[in-house]
Amino acid sequence: MSFRARHLLGIDHLKPDEITELLDLAQDYAALNRRTVKHSDALAGMTLINMFFENSTRTQASFELAGKRLGADVMNMAVSQSSVKKGETLIDTALTLNAMQPDLLVVRHPQSGAVNLLAEKVNCAVINAGDGRHEHPTQALLDALTIRRAKGRLHRLTIAICGDIAHSRVARSNLILLGKMENRIRLIGPATLMPAGVGDMGVELFEDMREGLKGVDVVMMLRLQKERMDGGFIPSEREYFHRFGLDAEKLALAAPDAIVMHPGPMNRGVEIDGTLADDINRSVIQDQVEMGVAVRMAALDLLARNLRASRGRTAVGEP
Ligand code: NCD
Repeated sequence: MSFRARHLLGIDHLKPDEITELLDLAQDYAALNRRTVKHSDALAGMTLINMFFENSTRTQASFELAGKRLGADVMNMAVSQSSVKKGETLIDTALTLNAMQPDLLVVRHPQSGAVNLLAEKVNCAVINAGDGRHEHPTQALLDALTIRRAKGRLHRLTIAICGDIAHSRVARSNLILLGKMENRIRLIGPATLMPAGVGDMGVELFEDMREGLKGVDVVMMLRLQKERMDGGFIPSEREYFHRFGLDAEKLALAAPDAIVMHPGPMNRGVEIDGTLADDINRSVIQDQVEMGVAVRMAALDLLARNLRASRGRTAVGEP
């Protein structure tokens, strides 16, 4: 087994063979998830706590299902009703939960770096479910599995990441992962939505979407992260859609078999045309959601194996 990590905090610390091992296991879980009986006992007896300090529908549901399908006891902490509202710090909340002996902690937090900080304070395995604009590793992994299944490979593809790159942890994690797997990456968006230092990332930059989409194999759209903007980044949503929204006419410039992706939630008519998003011949958006559960099962399983090994146990249930 090459996956040695204690936590999954970002793609940055994963080697290409660890990524491949996780995706191979996720591929098996994707098959299990299409069966009527979806249970495995990889996490039997273990406790998983979901701690989301930011609103989330699909990611939290996806981790909850992943944990339950592997037989863990899963608790979703309703942070909005918790002591955090009474002024408790992130670290105090984490230490309190840690004392309840969870085995796996899934954390989403609005501040970049918060999940790494928390991982230093607890003795369970931690998965970053998105921290500020920093990383969202399971999203990049589920995108990678979706691409691998649709294209038959995860290397030497030309992939366009389009839209609000500056505020996006999805873009950051994908850039790192797709770069490690030796793909050609193009970033497309207005200069105001490009992150600083983007010129050194070994990617091609385009402000003209029609130019940038020419011949690409994968078009990855991003949501306009309005909650992370303090005004003035785009002229108007109508203008933005005209220049940077994906529609059938712009997609026609990509390779004839190019696939369309979006991490959700989507702003239809702002970053993507609604009809195109629903076109199952081009859009793999629903596959991304499906692969999300499988990838999270694989991540939980691999981390649980390493946790057991570090605790000196060989099988679930041993003292
Ligand atoms: C992403 C996120 O939260 O970073 N969504 C998700 O995890 N499904 C992207 C987004 O919110 O735009």
